[in-house]
Amino acid sequence: MVSKKMEKELNKQLNAEMYSGYLYLAMAAYFEDFDLSGFANWMRVQAQEELSHSMRFYDYVVRRGAKVTLEAIEKPDFEWNSPVEVFDHVLSHEKVVTDLINDLVNLAIEENDHATNNFLQWFVAEQIEEEESAAAALNKVKMANEASNGMFLVDSEFASRVFTSNTSE
Ligand code: FEO
Repeated sequence: MVSKKMEKELNKQLNAEMYSGYLYLAMAAYFEDFDLSGFANWMRVQAQEELSHSMRFYDYVVRRGAKVTLEAIEKPDFEWNSPVEVFDHVLSHEKVVTDLINDLVNLAIEENDHATNNFLQWFVAEQIEEEESAAAALNKVKMANEASNGMFLVDSEFASRVFTSNTSE
């Protein structure tokens, strides 16, 4: 069993991962408008990853005999003015998610909840990857901005991204 407080926080993170997916889908839609289908693909894959993260929390809550509570998903209400601004937002958002995961780990340690701490370690590793991949993508987009056919080349590269579950395992 997990504590009531932990149950609540795990459900909050389930929701936060869903929101991340929604945010990345909004970013995908931003790129669709400019026919940058490779950029849109990168964001779609990112959104799929977030849904899989959310399902990890869902499954864990169920496995611990706790109750899944689904709250409303916040509207991603943003306007971006350039691809660089979008990827800058991806990186800052992933840093926020890392903080959320760290807070959950701190709670698990506080409660001597070793099982939940162990479950969360997958996300600790995943967040290293998430921040790394967001920073690398941001750098590419920044460089592409400065070259004449740069955006076209990065769009082609982002088009090849595919969703694979359990990327940190
Ligand atoms: Fe689920 Fe991108 O962190």
